[in-house]
Amino acid sequence: MYLLSIETSCDETAMSLVKVNKKKNNFKVLRNITISQINIHAQFGGVFPALAKREHKKNLPLLFQEILKEPFSLSKIDKNKFLQSNLEKIIPFFEREKEMFKRIISFLKKQSEIQKIDAIAVTQGPGLAPALWTGVNFARILSYFLSIPLFPINHMEGHVSSILLKENFLNIEEALFPLNSFSFPMLALLISGGHTQLVYIKEWGEYKIIGETLDDAVGESFDKVARMLGMEYPGGPKLSAIAKKGKKNEEIVLPRPMLHSRDYRFSFSGLKTAVRYLVENLKKKYGENLPEQIKNDIAREFEHSIVEVLLTKTKKAVKEFNVQTLIIAGGVSANSFLRKEFQKTFENIELLFPTNLLCGDNALMIASAALLKIQKGERGMNWKNLEAKSRLRIGEKQ
Ligand code: KG4
Ligand code: ZN
Repeated sequence: MYLLSIETSCDETAMSLVKVNKKKNNFKVLRNITISQINIHAQFGGVFPALAKREHKKNLPLLFQEILKEPFSLSKIDKNKFLQSNLEKIIPFFEREKEMFKRIISFLKKQSEIQKIDAIAVTQGPGLAPALWTGVNFARILSYFLSIPLFPINHMEGHVSSILLKENFLNIEEALFPLNSFSFPMLALLISGGHTQLVYIKEWGEYKIIGETLDDAVGESFDKVARMLGMEYPGGPKLSAIAKKGKKNEEIVLPRPMLHSRDYRFSFSGLKTAVRYLVENLKKKYGENLPEQIKNDIAREFEHSIVEVLLTKTKKAVKEFNVQTLIIAGGVSANSFLRKEFQKTFENIELLFPTNLLCGDNALMIASAALLKIQKGERGMNWKNLEAKSRLRIGEKQ
């Protein structure tokens, strides 16, 4: 079975093609492409939804054509689908996406055969609505013309599933760790630009949020603090790089928000405000351009605060829920200080991080989440019924 997967929830347009081996619950990665829009959004200091949508629209057809190049197996295109009488019936469903619709038709019409695709997995939510809709509509159009089912995927479930992929996923026949090799219950700490959640996983596909942030997400706080220190969006990785050069400094002390709240809720907006006041005060002393070492020290203290809070709450949940496997995923799981601290703390349970290439948004995590559904016997849905859901929550019925 050939599975195409699509991710457009934020500022990456990503697509992959995998060959699923249903018996082995595994797949081989045939193509995997991500186009990042980071440079386009950097000038706005964050992701600009209308721009993200425009870029996804431009990128999706390009990625699709790239994926179809040098096919692995061919299948015929049903020309009846392009009859005017048929087109008239479905055009109203794609009013919002006329341009993309026309581009896909004109491309598909010219082909007599294309790469075989048996199903499409697409991110349904959560994310930016205009960005999500672009991917969803692209998938719906293809689903109609190729007469194949759609698997709507929760983006956060995608991040959880990113840990299934082995490090050398591109070059091997079996890209995933055996699904039965994981011990339950699991706990996932999901830390990205839009989310900070602790999720209890009873078994694959059964998710329950036990706590989350009340305001800013961890990645968002990293980006905002980085901006205060003069770094371009997304500043998270840059802030973490300078934090490595930081030293303990008595002048620079930040709070550990909600550390002792006795629940699994987080709050990071106060921490961001504390950094703002700290920076203002330090500027009075050192001048408008803070010395590099001071910036490094702030970054270090900020990272320490975030990691201490995440670690403390996660430790509590691991104990309370008798967790056997801990997953850390989402863009911020790339942070090396965080990885080191978690590795030191959780020596006695299985601790899993995504391989470096798959920490940020990508299409392979969407394919692996779809595989978990296929493995459970799900067959996907009809293109007519699929909607993007920008506020979709993990564990919520789709
Ligand atoms: O999961 P992701 O790629 O996109 C969302 O779904 O939001 O996460 C992106 C976030 C950004 O806020 C980025 O600054 C942050 O992850 N990030 C990091 C690091 N790498 C990415 N934050 C801290 N340290 C890093 N090394
Ligand atoms: Zn993400």
